[in-house]
Amino acid sequence: MKSNYNSHVWRVVFGLVVLLIGVILWFGVVKNRVITSFGQYGHYRADAIDDEAQREIRFMTNAPCLSCHAYETRLHDNGRHKTISCEFCHGVLADHVKDNKKIGALPVKKREEIKVLCLRCHNKAIQARPKDVIKTVVMPDHLRDQKVKETHICNQCHLVHAPFYYIDHANRILGIQEKN
Ligand code: HEC
Ligand code: HEC
Ligand code: HEC
Ligand code: HEC
Repeated sequence: MKSNYNSHVWRVVFGLVVLLIGVILWFGVVKNRVITSFGQYGHYRADAIDDEAQREIRFMTNAPCLSCHAYETRLHDNGRHKTISCEFCHGVLADHVKDNKKIGALPVKKREEIKVLCLRCHNKAIQARPKDVIKTVVMPDHLRDQKVKETHICNQCHLVHAPFYYIDHANRILGIQEKN
């Protein structure tokens, strides 16, 4: 028996027509730029190179920090953290400096936050570490070994920008050989 309820068919046809119009508009109008530069150098949109180059540069090396923060940068460049980017701990230069002028404050970690920061790289619990490169500690055992209260924060003994600076000094005074 023939059914009169065929609106479901028309709905599908309507959907397909809308899709077709959409595809035509997309390629004709929106993607016109795409088509004009596609294939110029290879199987990709040549304009993409310019688009990427236009993007604002946000991260930098440690080099620009030296001009305004010579004290911290010198310590850092001569300490065991010399291979670590300032921006890992402090955030992005683009939020801080523009045209050689300070435009905004960078976050500076304090107290407990410092512990969290240091342990992101130095926690023994994190197994996926190149062990001979990044030395790890177990907390609070590390503090017990030093015979101090467990409330101690890392930067009370480790200068954040040169973590063995004080410790090497102390060892030298006490005639203990430096750790390598
Ligand atoms: C391992 C993380 C780490 C790295 C890498 C690092 N810093 Fe810091 N920095 C800190 C922490 C934590 C503090 C605040 C606590 C302290 O000074 O003991 C700080 C403090 C500072 C301060 C003082 C801020 C204030 O108002 O007291 C400046 C400036 C600074 N750092 C600049 C730099 C520069 C420049 C570099 C790179 C050459 C750098 N830091 C690399 C963690 C880091
Ligand atoms: C054009 C100069 C300039 C450059 C380049 C620069 N800073 Fe600063 N920075 C300042 C000034 C000015 C202050 C505020 C006064 C101060 O603490 O010395 C400041 C303060 C800071 C502070 C303390 C928190 C704050 O924002 O007040 C940190 C941390 C810091 N800078 C980190 C960095 C790092 C990391 C870099 C490199 C990625 C960098 N700065 C590059 C000028 C600069
Ligand atoms: C981004 C990861 C990272 C963060 C965050 C970090 N460190 Fe380090 N740290 C390293 C690496 C990598 C080395 C080893 C560098 C090398 O030997 O080339 C190192 C070296 C050290 C050393 C010397 C150990 C040794 O014998 O090599 C100490 C101590 C240390 N860090 C303490 C700290 C403290 C304290 C903090 C927090 C303020 C901190 N680190 C934050 C990655 C990090
Ligand atoms: C009371 C002082 C003190 C505090 C607080 C402290 N440390 Fe240390 N740390 C030392 C001394 C001293 C050494 C070097 C002697 C040793 O190996 O025990 C050391 C060594 C290290 C080393 C190198 C270990 C190795 O195997 O060579 C790392 C990594 C380290 N500390 C990270 C941290 C982190 C992260 C914190 C904070 C969560 C922290 N320390 C807090 C005193 C301290």
